[in-house]
Amino acid sequence: MRMYDIIIKKRNGGTLTEEEIRYMIHDYVLGNIPDYQMSAMLMAIYFQGMTDIETTILTDAMAHSGDMVDLSGIDGIKVDKHSTGGVGDKTSLIIAPIVAACGGKVAKMSGRGLGHTGGTVDKMESIPGMQTSIPREKFINIVNKIGLCVIGQSGNLAPADKKLYALRDVTATVDSIPLIAASIMSKKLAAGNDCILLDVKTGSGAFMKTLDGSIELAKKMVAIGEHAGKKTVALITDMDIPLGFAIGNSLEIIEVVETLHNKGPKDLTEVCLHLASNMLFLCEKGTLEECRKMSEEAIASGAAFQKLIEMVEAQGGDSSVLKDTNKFDKAPCERKVIASTDGYITHMNTEQCGISSLVLGAGREKKEDSIDYSAGIILNKKVGDYVKAGELLATLYTSKQETLDESERILLNAIKIDEKPVKLEPLIFARIEKDKVEKLVI
Ligand code: URA
Repeated sequence: MRMYDIIIKKRNGGTLTEEEIRYMIHDYVLGNIPDYQMSAMLMAIYFQGMTDIETTILTDAMAHSGDMVDLSGIDGIKVDKHSTGGVGDKTSLIIAPIVAACGGKVAKMSGRGLGHTGGTVDKMESIPGMQTSIPREKFINIVNKIGLCVIGQSGNLAPADKKLYALRDVTATVDSIPLIAASIMSKKLAAGNDCILLDVKTGSGAFMKTLDGSIELAKKMVAIGEHAGKKTVALITDMDIPLGFAIGNSLEIIEVVETLHNKGPKDLTEVCLHLASNMLFLCEKGTLEECRKMSEEAIASGAAFQKLIEMVEAQGGDSSVLKDTNKFDKAPCERKVIASTDGYITHMNTEQCGISSLVLGAGREKKEDSIDYSAGIILNKKVGDYVKAGELLATLYTSKQETLDESERILLNAIKIDEKPVKLEPLIFARIEKDKVEKLVI
């Protein structure tokens, strides 16, 4: 078999066979297929697409390129959750404790920030001492003991995705539905959970900018999960506005704590309650309505916050910063971003809001960059709010004074102020199960 012939086949709109797909992934991981040939293939897939069967085989080949994690040592139904990535998206650290407080088992492997989006592992590491790399046996023991543990992906989880993602990042082939579906689902299948909840983001801060594209992606991922024997549900949630008010690692952890104390932003709380209810539903804890009630009670009683403390302590973190969030290191430099005109905020380019935070040091420009955990943005106003000239729009935080001008410029350009208000978009647009798309307006 020759990669050259497979590239021609896909370039001309052909359908690849199982043998061709498995050969391509196997030999690419081994280093027998060079990056330039795989780049050509990715671009061919970008333009020609893949059938559902091709995407399913690609996902399976990528999942089996490394370790298939065995979580059978954990009692009960193990539920995973994955977000396609967003700005201010700290939901995992709110919903995992809620689900564990209600008796679900969350053995989760999360990622780091990617492009303009933040990552759960980076956020967790803003808690002093927090370990996100834990041996498998200890990981399983923690979940059996307290119901949850969140760690980073081990080096050998879907290594094909690691190589392909890095290549897609530099060849303008990230936003392809079959490639995103295979990338996410290969890691989810390899991670060994029994069921999967997908949080597919849509809007200016998401990889999928349109609702139709997000629904198509969600349907594909649900079909892949179900085909692999895992009950899979997807929610399509809004990422046209940053989620909550905090963007940046320790700032987001503080918002996590506020939300678990029932004092968080409304949008973040609502999205988390939906996600947590759906995870509990997948764990067979009751109907969706019953699971919603349980989730609300887990917050109101303080049980979910207690689970977060237990998890942080089990993973070596200093829980005193969660009990008193003033103990988090403060960024030495700040800038107040002020509105220059009166009017309604009608749009926030959420990708640019993420980049504004990244410039402050909250994310990485290059893979090897280190993170400034206290850097980021606290928004004061969001879409729908009325502002007066001179009013505070946001505060920027950083350890690098020289980044403030650039970050402020990007943020101000991202925020549109008009005379007339706009109708607010829903927070949750749809729920997708096997062969079923339910449109929602929440
Ligand atoms: N997240 C992933 O893991 N892969 C993608 O392709 C996009 C988002």
